[in-house]
Amino acid sequence: MLKAIYPGSFDPVTNGHLDIITRASKLVDCLVVGILENPNKKNSLFTVDERIEHLKLVTGELENVEVASFKGLLVDFAEKIDAKVVIRGLRAVTDFENEFQMALINRSLHNDIETFFISTSVNYLYLSSSTVKEVAMFGGNIKGMVPPEIEKIVLEKYRK
Ligand code: PNS
Repeated sequence: MLKAIYPGSFDPVTNGHLDIITRASKLVDCLVVGILENPNKKNSLFTVDERIEHLKLVTGELENVEVASFKGLLVDFAEKIDAKVVIRGLRAVTDFENEFQMALINRSLHNDIETFFISTSVNYLYLSSSTVKEVAMFGGNIKGMVPPEIEKIVLEKYRK
């Protein structure tokens, strides 16, 4: 059985993330979406529990997708849940250097865990959680950037 982990911050989950999750879920037997509990990111828009809830909401129909959070090193969590593959989405060329470095570091930490890159769908080439937050913060339209359920939740958050 091939189990993979798709790690990230997902603050908030975007349509770009959902695209990668959907496509990756067709390639593996089980895909765990792993949300990093990052003590350094104090200014997150959503708590980890909220993000777990959001991801469960938008992946509910994907039967082989699970959602979990993790602390510490990704490779340690991957080993704990017996995931042999890390999935990362690649957008523009600018992602490549960071992603390649992360993949090499993870491999140096754990030789048996491989990183698979999935190229983003062209519609989401420049989409990120940060841009969604910035657009929403200044009252811009985020339709099409995040799933409809998440759009409501993000706008509500900024209304408060
Ligand atoms: O959505 P993001 O912020 O691009 O996700 C980054 C993430 C969570 C995949 C990465 O920061 C991570 O794996 N952090 C856990 C700590 C770790 O394992 N670091 C070593 C690899 S650089």
